[in-house]
Amino acid sequence: MIDLFPIVGPILRRFDPETAHAITIRALATGLMPGPRAADDPVLRIRLWNRDFANPLGLAAGFDKNAEVPDAMLRLGFGFVEAGSVTPRPQPGNPRPRLFRLPEQGAVINRMGFNNEGLELFAARLERRRADPRRAPGLVGANLGKNKDTAEAADDYALGVRRLAPLADYLVVNVSSPNTPGLRALQGREPLRVLLRRVLDERAACGLDSPPPLLLKIAPDLTEEDKADIAAVALETAIDGLVISNTTITRPPGTPERFRGEAGGLSGRPLLGPSTALLADMFRLTGGRLPIVGVGGIADGADAYAKIRAGASLVQLYTALIYGGPALITGIKSELAALLKRDGFAALADAVGAAHP
Ligand code: FNR
Repeated sequence: MIDLFPIVGPILRRFDPETAHAITIRALATGLMPGPRAADDPVLRIRLWNRDFANPLGLAAGFDKNAEVPDAMLRLGFGFVEAGSVTPRPQPGNPRPRLFRLPEQGAVINRMGFNNEGLELFAARLERRRADPRRAPGLVGANLGKNKDTAEAADDYALGVRRLAPLADYLVVNVSSPNTPGLRALQGREPLRVLLRRVLDERAACGLDSPPPLLLKIAPDLTEEDKADIAAVALETAIDGLVISNTTITRPPGTPERFRGEAGGLSGRPLLGPSTALLADMFRLTGGRLPIVGVGGIADGADAYAKIRAGASLVQLYTALIYGGPALITGIKSELAALLKRDGFAALADAVGAAHP
């Protein structure tokens, strides 16, 4: 496939970031773009939750909020795509501007606020995809959020689970966006226990033969106590995995002065270290018993490999795609395969958590 990003990327960056994103989604949705993708190196295969991933590299939530382009993204080479976050009712999100590029830092700040078209359209698209024999191979997960004006958060997540459990390959309960007031408080021990029990009950009530695994996505800005509580509740409720992590509300050294006061979550390169450290902590606190999806600042194969060694079974990215374009996907996969082989791993699963003594 010809890589047009060296030409298209600079043009897109002349638009404000949100317009550039809208143009990208429209172009991908034409279905004309990516042709069939090359086969993945078998060393990258991994089986989790009775599901086969041809490679462990996924598209993180927030890129395809409305499940419009999962097949195009799979054809670009991702092993899986996490669509969403979707809320039960459509909502506009925060006022613009709400997305900012920090190119020197390889980062962005966003305070989108779960702008999305709502659960019904999202589900209808996944239904259509399921029925389409030409859909791309690969898995599509659904990331669930809550509407800003819903008082009882668990009701919104329950609605998401009920509608999407039959349609998604996995589900993510996202309680870690910094842009919905009160959301991250759901990561506290008691609220989290209540919420996870509720959504697991809801999933059971769907009566599916092979229900989708249910994962929890957490923030990088947690205290030691928060981490221990989340690990304990995750094991006790027996959810199926963790996605680590969402964007950070901290502004690490090197953040340009004019962005320090800009509210929202920071993603990209500055998040690599903190999110990988949290992933290692959570792997240790859960005794390696819960599969972890590692996300935050991945821009090359070595970054992905570091997350896998820290305990991730799958990895995802978003921000690096804004600066590197789709060629990054193939590059990361081939670098990762080479690193696994260099270190004598016959399969990806053998490298998961290898950094831990
Ligand atoms: C996000 N992210 C995100 N996460 C989520 O769970 N639900 C969402 O709706 C969004 N929306 C969103 C929008 C934008 C513009 C960005 C940049 C990010 C967070 C994303 O999935 C991921 O966790 C972080 O961005 C860290 O990964 P990267 O971007 O550093 O690879």
